[in-house]
Amino acid sequence: MSVSDAIAAVEGYLDGTQQERLDEYQAFLRIPSISALTAHTADMTTAADWLVGRMQAMGMTDAEASPTGGHPIVYGEWLGAEGAPTVLVYGHYDVQPVDPIEQWVRPPFEPRIEDGRIYARGAADDKGQVHIHLCAARAWFQTQGRLPINVKYLFEGEEESGSVNFDRWVEANRDRLRADLAVISDTGFFQGNHPAVTIGLRGITYAQIDVRGPRQDLHSGTYGGNVQNPANALAAIITGLRHPDGRIAVPGFYDQVRSLSDADRAQFARLDFDAAALAHEVGVAELFGEPDFSVLERRGARPTLDVNGIWAGFQGEGAKTIIPAEAHAKISCRLVPDMDPRVTLDRVRAHVAAIAPPGVRVEVRGIHDGMWSLTGIDHPATQAAAHCLREVFGEEPVYLREGGSIPAAATFGSVLGLPVVLLGFTPPDDQAHSPNEFMRLDNYEGGIRTVARYWEALASALGPPGSSGSA
Ligand code: BES
Ligand code: ZN
Repeated sequence: MSVSDAIAAVEGYLDGTQQERLDEYQAFLRIPSISALTAHTADMTTAADWLVGRMQAMGMTDAEASPTGGHPIVYGEWLGAEGAPTVLVYGHYDVQPVDPIEQWVRPPFEPRIEDGRIYARGAADDKGQVHIHLCAARAWFQTQGRLPINVKYLFEGEEESGSVNFDRWVEANRDRLRADLAVISDTGFFQGNHPAVTIGLRGITYAQIDVRGPRQDLHSGTYGGNVQNPANALAAIITGLRHPDGRIAVPGFYDQVRSLSDADRAQFARLDFDAAALAHEVGVAELFGEPDFSVLERRGARPTLDVNGIWAGFQGEGAKTIIPAEAHAKISCRLVPDMDPRVTLDRVRAHVAAIAPPGVRVEVRGIHDGMWSLTGIDHPATQAAAHCLREVFGEEPVYLREGGSIPAAATFGSVLGLPVVLLGFTPPDDQAHSPNEFMRLDNYEGGIRTVARYWEALASALGPPGSSGSA
């Protein structure tokens, strides 16, 4: 296999600088940038400023932490590759909350390297992948003094809490974000750690159900039998949202769902997937889901309605006999083409109102939403990504429709009109959002080398601006 002189030099540099790179990666992971919790607001700024500092040190111009109304967006660009295409690179520096904290083998913000893996909250989702991009660019700058393409980095601080200020910021910065392509690194590999290019993501609508009954908690002996119990009422509502076989019971829920064509189903069926291994990996006796669809179809092309959290009444030690005054649940629906998040939420709300038992007041409040996205595999930038993955990881990548959501993917298409490539590197069992999240160092190192090659490959695949096709 022959590589360009530039890539040979970049890889030589990377081979000689692993320790300093890992030190820096760990410094990034030590900042507890949990976007959902107000107690971490200052940490968000620290993480954003840290990224700005790294980008300035590496030679990016205009690196800044830009205010959004929520947590800042980190933006930086380098536009020195005259005549070459411009890529908008997206990742996020915020992370999920860490609870249940007692299940972490080491504290989530004290990274540890063990058995070729780095464990910490954000190691995979998504700080590790943001760092992959910084390292790839730095290797180019250090060895060539330049990049083969123009880049605009956009690192979000609110992805894990619904990207609620993102679209507005993108719209306000439309001109500054002009590019030929968006590359998002916030997805991962396929089962067995096979390289993958993601071509589909689900959308989401997230809401809270509040059920309120008596003015305050009541003695369940004195009042039980005469006052509706908000916790029982919430349980009844939740039961009414889904049929026992996994289908959603909300009227009209599936009306906008695009049915799978034979070609779609063939594409899913081509992937060699072991459902029993997945059950084993997560520790359940059997998988569960809508009948008549395969596991991968259910993940990539069918909608869901899940309870993400539920609370009411007494949770302490021992027993306490009350009728709680209120009960709450956080729920979310994953959405597929051609569902609309607002329409879906309206339907859920109407169904909740219709099935709510008497004697309580029920409210469904939307918290955030994001659109699904689906692209083809034919765009030259997608093909170039697959080519670089194959070169670095030595295996033919698969094309995946994934179950997670990245609202930015749809925004880049709808607001900026950009084709989007989802090029991510995390291991499929990375425990993202769970205790003991990790990144495999092989994936991380391979990711850096893939991105470094991808920039060169794109320069020839896309050619000068305007000469490329569209996705
Ligand atoms: N990296 C994930 C998205 C993802 C997960 C892509 C699995 C492919 C497979 C991202 O950080 C994420 O978790 N997004 C949230 C978005 C939500 C809060 C709007 C998600 O999917 O829950
Ligand atoms: Zn995530």
